[in-house]
Amino acid sequence: MCGIFGYCSFLKPKDRKEVCDILCNGLARQEYRGYDSAGIGIDGDAPGEVYFFKEVGKVAGLRQRIASANVDTSKVFNSQVSIAHTRWATHGPPSVINCHPLRSDPTSDFIVVHNGIVTNAAALRLVLQNRGFKFESETDTEAVAILTKYVYDSQPDKRITFTELVKAVLKELEGSFAFVFKSKHYPDEVVTARRGSPLLVGVKTDKKLKVDFVDVEFAGQETEQKIVDTLSPATSGGLLAPPIVNPKIMRTQSRAFMSEDGLPQPIEFFVASDAAAIIEHTKRVLYLEDDDIAHIAEGELHIHRLRRGEDGSQTPSTRSLETLEIEIAEIMKGKFNHFMQKEIYEQPESVVNTMRGRVNFDNNKITLGGLRAYLPIIRRGRRIVFSACGTSYHSCIATRAIFEELTEIPVSVELASDFLDRKTPIFRDDVCVFVSQSGETADTIMALRYCLERGALCVGVVNTVGSTISRETHCGVHINAGPEVGVASTKAYTSQYIALLMMALQLSEDRISFTERRNQIIAGLHALPGQIRSVIDGDKALKEMSEGVLANSTSLLLMGRGYQYATCLEGALKIKEISYMHSEGILAGELKHGPLALIDENMPVIIVMTRDSLYPKVQSAFSQITARKAQPIVICNDDDEGVSKDVKTIRVPQTVDCLQGLLNIIPLQLLSYHLAVNKGFDVDFPRNLCVSLIYL
Ligand code: F6R
Repeated sequence: MCGIFGYCSFLKPKDRKEVCDILCNGLARQEYRGYDSAGIGIDGDAPGEVYFFKEVGKVAGLRQRIASANVDTSKVFNSQVSIAHTRWATHGPPSVINCHPLRSDPTSDFIVVHNGIVTNAAALRLVLQNRGFKFESETDTEAVAILTKYVYDSQPDKRITFTELVKAVLKELEGSFAFVFKSKHYPDEVVTARRGSPLLVGVKTDKKLKVDFVDVEFAGQETEQKIVDTLSPATSGGLLAPPIVNPKIMRTQSRAFMSEDGLPQPIEFFVASDAAAIIEHTKRVLYLEDDDIAHIAEGELHIHRLRRGEDGSQTPSTRSLETLEIEIAEIMKGKFNHFMQKEIYEQPESVVNTMRGRVNFDNNKITLGGLRAYLPIIRRGRRIVFSACGTSYHSCIATRAIFEELTEIPVSVELASDFLDRKTPIFRDDVCVFVSQSGETADTIMALRYCLERGALCVGVVNTVGSTISRETHCGVHINAGPEVGVASTKAYTSQYIALLMMALQLSEDRISFTERRNQIIAGLHALPGQIRSVIDGDKALKEMSEGVLANSTSLLLMGRGYQYATCLEGALKIKEISYMHSEGILAGELKHGPLALIDENMPVIIVMTRDSLYPKVQSAFSQITARKAQPIVICNDDDEGVSKDVKTIRVPQTVDCLQGLLNIIPLQLLSYHLAVNKGFDVDFPRNLCVSLIYL
């Protein structure tokens, strides 16, 4: 996955800004999306001249490279249109050559930044190589830049618009993408487009706007005829038709963002993969839909569609400006060393934000506004199918039992990737719930689309407002945890857990027999923020523990059962992903069916033994492992006298059984954090990972 960023300024020359900082800040805020290399492409002093700055590694390195560049910054760095990229390598290793923006040729006729994977890039490359084009990089993106030049050069009169050109190119592509294109043939214009990867445009102007939406411009008569035959590039030379574009796009007269006085206005546009990249400039954003092509020129933004809906009317014909609700402070580290640490520490507040306005502690009522109209359908559902990946999947495992108990509807929990691989049968009377922090995880999106096609009611439980999952589901709940910047998911887990629990509570509100149980859980939710705070207060002891026996271990087992199985899975995931130590969550009931063979005095084990109805069974697992000389660390309740003084413990307050996992996970998050910091690893940017994997 990658982060893309574009800046287009239509300010008066005297008001123009120095762009490098704008670009680097935009990239730094999206660095969680990929941090193998970073690059920018900006206009030079002479017409058509483009400067590239590229560096392997993080954005800090790119800043240094720019600072030491031998160029006249006062002339170069106020480029009106500039694009930037932070990369998570997919095609070709991290290197300056593979770093974006990629160019079409040595004179940089077209330059492109890309998030996604063009799956037919190899075939396109072959076609273009057959026609004499030279490639510099190993990326799929370069084929797109070169194809753009090829199509442009083939137009007899070169009167094709930038949008028409990009549209012709995109029609040749398979896979997922968000692109920003810039060209010396179209100075001061940018075209950006998406299919399957997130993309938004921020709009900043001091003038009052009379119109704050953009009309979508549908094409007129279109043919779907392709230019390049990527199925047989070698034999046919790859060309199905001469790459002459028949300009069928009818440009409407619609003016986007018309100012109150109707006069052109000084305006800036910011294109990004994530709203965090633009929040410091503007809160007014427009989310692009799949197959939208946005053209920014002359202070206006026009949106075209790559293809029509089947009946010509399925896609809404306007895109509205929305106001972001995040604050800049939410995406800054503040006094913390890492975003992950900040986000762990934020949990007493983030869980309150998840419940705010939804849980009424006076009358024990739950109101999830986004679900209200759909409750009868959900209650009538034949079954509920949760679908998610990674940490989000664990939040589903954690709440399945209470969901089934309160709703009396069977619940299955699916890993989104496996769900698709299995071609799981889904029916119209199924209720499918998609849980995702980012709302952009490819497997979860594909599972969602699969269920939509089969007519099931699709519910989203998502953190990122405006994300694909939140837009494509019929209804849902935003978990309101605030931006999660650390790649290892922490506060999203606790908020997802609570959102799912609130859903179960609301669905069961008409069941008198559950009143006492519901009241007990809601009282537990009330006490939760304070209890989380008290667990976080024990951080010093956890840091010391991370420096002890666990510091030199290469492996760690985490055991528990019932509600605590999810805690073990999630704790193990946190430890492996940031401290690179093998760790495994084990259902304690399965111990004798295999895992016991791993136990000896050298194998560190954390066993979750907080008090609930399964406590005696977990005690038995504890005895089995200590009989084999294991020296477990026990997560138990504050006042549990039953755990021997000789055993190392992590003490947590007691709460209702189905909420206990919300407290038990916190020490494991902190432990994983300290283990990674002790080893000198980059906690916020673990190797090989990035948040919300967009691709297969
Ligand atoms: C783990 C982690 C990943 C994500 C997973 C799903 O710390 O961050 O396992 O949980 O990639 O991402 P979302 O929730 O954005 O769909």
